[in-house]
Amino acid sequence: MIGGGYVGLVSAACFAEFGMHVSVVETNAERLAALREGRIPIYEPGLDTLVVSNSQAGRLVFGDDIASAVVGAEAVFIAVGTPPRNGDGAADLQYVHAAARQIAQALTGYAVIVTKSTVPVGSSRRIAEIIREARPDLDFDVASNPEFLREGSAIDDFMRPDRVIIGLDEAGKNGTARAENVMRRVYRPLAQSAAELVFTGLETAELTKYASNSFLAMKISFINEMADLCEKLGANVEGLARGMGLDTRIGQRFLNPGPGYGGSCFPKDTLALSRIAQESQSGCRLVETTVQVNEARKAAMAGRIIAACGGAVNGRTVAVLGLTFKPETDDMRESASIPILHRLAEAGAVLRAYDPVGMEAAKPLLPAQTIYCADAMDAAQGADVLVVLTEWNIFRALSPESLAQQMRAKVVVDLRNIFDPDAMRAAGFVYQSVGRP
Ligand code: NAD
Ligand code: UDX
Repeated sequence: MIGGGYVGLVSAACFAEFGMHVSVVETNAERLAALREGRIPIYEPGLDTLVVSNSQAGRLVFGDDIASAVVGAEAVFIAVGTPPRNGDGAADLQYVHAAARQIAQALTGYAVIVTKSTVPVGSSRRIAEIIREARPDLDFDVASNPEFLREGSAIDDFMRPDRVIIGLDEAGKNGTARAENVMRRVYRPLAQSAAELVFTGLETAELTKYASNSFLAMKISFINEMADLCEKLGANVEGLARGMGLDTRIGQRFLNPGPGYGGSCFPKDTLALSRIAQESQSGCRLVETTVQVNEARKAAMAGRIIAACGGAVNGRTVAVLGLTFKPETDDMRESASIPILHRLAEAGAVLRAYDPVGMEAAKPLLPAQTIYCADAMDAAQGADVLVVLTEWNIFRALSPESLAQQMRAKVVVDLRNIFDPDAMRAAGFVYQSVGRP
């Protein structure tokens, strides 16, 4: 497993839990040192136990030497980052290509080189070219195996996926059968689950990942716009989402309105798909519009908080509950909290924030004057408005009466709909949520 970040580490630990022997190659010295000591450099529920037990059993090892890691490997997974390239939003493939060159130098026998990173269409063929250029004699196949796990529920998603997509070079007839055999054995432990293995071509597999993430991003943007409409028309988005979602063609999930989607995948993958479509002179207006709708959403949410304070937050204290892009992660990448808190700081607000695990990661990204608090009640101390940005479970049971006692003014802007409107009003709050009367 080349790369021991979110995807590499979770995949490696799960494959090891399935009984395979997994060597993780990680070049970041700090991450590697932590992993070797059994410390997990990211917050992901259950991952520490899985990493420690499989390391102790000798099935999971960490190092920075690719040559020793690939000895005898039947499959070599590339799980390095593909961040957006500065300027145009296309995926930056420098880490993937570097990994391919390193793998080419290190392999001593046949292996399937599998791309787990999210990469643009054509990348797996490019990886094959890079390896062929470096080692014309080498016997290998490439496969595209995009990952669909979500942060916060990564282990369960990996072990019980709806489907596993495996793209192979359909033109390379004999190679395909050999590579398919290896990939079937790698995923055989999932045979007991409901997961379907979908074998397809390289290009289809690569595009399926971007299409899936963009579709989900579009679904979220759709419900966010419906929430706005519900507010205008006196309808309730919860009833609307349930009514829509019970149609199995639509589905219940990913219909929760909020402050705009964030994270390390949806924002970058929607941009990358727009770019792929532009380069192919093909239209992808729905995805381009989704990107714009989501950007506008984050700005609008900052405006909504300011409006809830009577149109100005200068000198007002804003309590912020939740900073990470979603609960159960310490990941701050593209979190809606970043633009929203900067907008509030520019408008002169005093920010008192609390997040159960994201505060360290948040510090370099949020306004310097943000005050980090010990817990939710501490954040609410003397606040003129309380804003919910991330729906951590620990916030759900907060007593409205106790919150009201802490605050200077009783105003709550709940951008994740975690509180009961009636209970909040009974406690004397001016309470706003999203898409609910
Ligand atoms: P990450 O930044 O957390 O991890 C990447 C790791 O690779 C880093 O630790 C880095 O030091 C290491 N690395 C880079 N080059 C290396 C090399 N040559 N050899 C060894 N290690 C190297 O990234 P991530 O969030 O795990 O994402 C990885 C890929 O998976 C991306 O393409 C992403 O789009 C995709 N993906 C991510 C998620 C997610 O939820 N984070 C889900 C699905 C797919
Ligand atoms: C996503 C994809 O779901 C996953 O399949 C892929 O592998 C990586 O990208 P992740 O980014 O970890 O996973 O989290 P996800 O649960 O999808 O949430 C992404 C963003 O959408 C978060 O900001 C979340 O708050 C937001 N969201 C999600 C909503 O606003 N409403 C919803 O109904 C669902």
